[in-house]
Amino acid sequence: MKKKLKILALFDAIAPTSLEQDLSAELKTDDWKTEANVLAALDNLGHTTQHLAIFDDLDLLRQKLQSFQPNVIFNLADQFKNNRAFDQNIVSFLEMQGLPFTGCGSTGLTLCKHKGISKKILGYHRIHVPEFVTIARGKRIARPPRLRFPILVKPLKEEASFGIAQASFVENDEEFKERVAFIHEKYDNDVIAEEYIEGRELYVSVLGNHRLRVFPVRELVFNEVPPDEPKIATYKAKWDEEYRKRWGILNQFASQLDPALIHQLEEMSKKIYRLLAIDGYGRLDLRLTRENEIVFIEANPNPVLACDEDFAQSALGADLAYPQLIERIAQLGMTAVRD
Ligand SMILES: Nc1ncnc2c1ncn2[C@@H]1O[C@H](COP(=O)(O)OP(=O)(O)O)[C@@H](O)[C@H]1O
Ligand SMILES: [Mg+2]
Repeated sequence: MKKKLKILALFDAIAPTSLEQDLSAELKTDDWKTEANVLAALDNLGHTTQHLAIFDDLDLLRQKLQSFQPNVIFNLADQFKNNRAFDQNIVSFLEMQGLPFTGCGSTGLTLCKHKGISKKILGYHRIHVPEFVTIARGKRIARPPRLRFPILVKPLKEEASFGIAQASFVENDEEFKERVAFIHEKYDNDVIAEEYIEGRELYVSVLGNHRLRVFPVRELVFNEVPPDEPKIATYKAKWDEEYRKRWGILNQFASQLDPALIHQLEEMSKKIYRLLAIDGYGRLDLRLTRENEIVFIEANPNPVLACDEDFAQSALGADLAYPQLIERIAQLGMTAVRD
């Protein structure tokens, strides 16, 4: 039996909170599924848990740490003051105090959040990445001639397919300019525009700090989307159940992958994970072209941990049940070296 721990589950909130705030209503909603699943697993494992949701008040966290003195913080806070780019700063705050926490450290979060910097690092190390350009807000919107259509226009630093719709897929300069301006204005985000990589959409889940474990590959399939249409994990394709039903969009284990190709996917995923300084747990979004070429799309440190989402499902495919997965993540958080 593993030693029982005091674990502080740290959440983010979209409005100011207090130390003893009752979150039981939130924890019953779909939006808080990950938080509820993790808390239930930690309780199940016999750990002593407390939780705290923070909006913009770090003093609450300081007080909670002082009164509870946890062995580890289970970090599920991925925004601060409604800004998702600040996830790395929350973690930096913990790192500076030498506090053990789960998931990825500030370097990995920073590198992966910036979809241009991560691709530059990987390109340098000969991982295949799409040709791309970044266009900051306020800059002239022009497509460099080397960037060929079709192109996918995305917010430079976003997650969960925010700002990604069918209209992100552009086939001429007029559509290109319109979509870039839209992301600048409506999403208040810089843009990364990438060559569209046609192929199967694969998700590879990795667990570990130094010794890495890769779980069975998942795939997003688009059963009812006609073959010549672009297949993109848009916001709706990820989160709108009715839309998913209509287009036959399913997350499932990837079938009919050659064992040699699976090995190649695993090795490449471990290499990417290390190059981008991810620790704890991460999920890599890859595309597999018709010629069986693996192309990097995005790295997700601290991917969604809800028990029915790809990361936990992938672990389950390797016979790692949900509570045991949560236990491993807590243990990895205690042994990670963060300086
Ligand atoms: N260069 C690309 N080629 C083909 N599809 C892409 C490309 N970039 C993104 N996509 C599609 O858009 C989805 C979301 O893009 P991604 O960069 O992973 O953003 P997010 O961080 O919001 O998940 C991907 O899962 C994929 O389906
Ligand atoms: Mg993604």
